[in-house]
Amino acid sequence: MALLAGKSHSALPRLAAFCAIACLIFLRGGNASGAITPGGVWFDNRGQQIQAHGGGILKVGDTFFWFGEDRSQGLDPNKRYVSCYASKDLVHWTFRNQVLKLSDPENFGAGWLIERPKVFYNATTKKYVLYAHIDDGTYKVARVAIAISDTVDGDYRYLKSFRPLGLESRDIGQFIDDDGTAYLIFESRPTRGFLIARLSPDYLDVEKQMSFVPARLEGGALVHYQGLYYVIGSHMSGWSPNPNVYATATSLEGPWTQFKDIAPPAAKTFHSQSSTLLTIPGTKTTAVVFMADQWKPDDLWDSRYLWMPLRIGEGQLVLPEPRPWSIDIQTGETKY
Ligand code: DGJ
Repeated sequence: MALLAGKSHSALPRLAAFCAIACLIFLRGGNASGAITPGGVWFDNRGQQIQAHGGGILKVGDTFFWFGEDRSQGLDPNKRYVSCYASKDLVHWTFRNQVLKLSDPENFGAGWLIERPKVFYNATTKKYVLYAHIDDGTYKVARVAIAISDTVDGDYRYLKSFRPLGLESRDIGQFIDDDGTAYLIFESRPTRGFLIARLSPDYLDVEKQMSFVPARLEGGALVHYQGLYYVIGSHMSGWSPNPNVYATATSLEGPWTQFKDIAPPAAKTFHSQSSTLLTIPGTKTTAVVFMADQWKPDDLWDSRYLWMPLRIGEGQLVLPEPRPWSIDIQTGETKY
């Protein structure tokens, strides 16, 4: 007993040091291992579970800004929220702001929603322009909403909502081509397909259809990699996962190839749904990261993120089985 007591006494400082280090790591956010852990609980610098569902990333200088639906418990049920986090390494995320705190701007009534926010930066107007799917509780309105800000993580001011190109629009995706041109991908149910459309010069409108892709897919995302466009989408099964698919084209105007599975179909995209394809060009290679949501419809706040570097090239795109990984942002190299 005396021995035991003595042992635990001498272990106390070490235990305290261990706890202090663990706390520090925890409060920095991300994972203690410095890895990105698909499907894990991801914390921000405050030790809170990251709320950026259906999100997208905008890189400003050397900082990644991640925007997404804030589904935290205990929020005002009449408002809808978009949160913004910042990181330089994609692992450690600092909460910056609830950039959108919106009270039913179009009087859609109870159950109205904001989903899949994406932020573009317009270098001409020097405005940050947030697009999101806005709808009533029955998903019948089917519009995009626009809000703007002078700073990336400021309080975004709601501007308007509309149907892009006059068409119903639900899930949206964001794409910025190598020449800086900005595009919106939007699912339009009555057309039985989805569209890729160019934004207007001030980004406050959707002005030109590039492609109508006759595939009933949502969660659309695009990447331009080694001269080929790859578009990804999910089938329509509500919050439930399904096998996500991809097609390629040499031009945004198509023609697009047949869609193929990005992973073994039985895995249902490893229980996730596509949101964004993030390109990280490095000095040695360019990584393309599949950003997806693992939805928990009954506890949306606890929905998880599945991010994985894709195996991509020469018209093939494969989502590897999820496991912890890390990236060297300078070189673009990823490792498990
Ligand atoms: C699937 C969409 O991709 C999500 O953003 C969300 O709208 C759910 N459907 C709702 O069922």
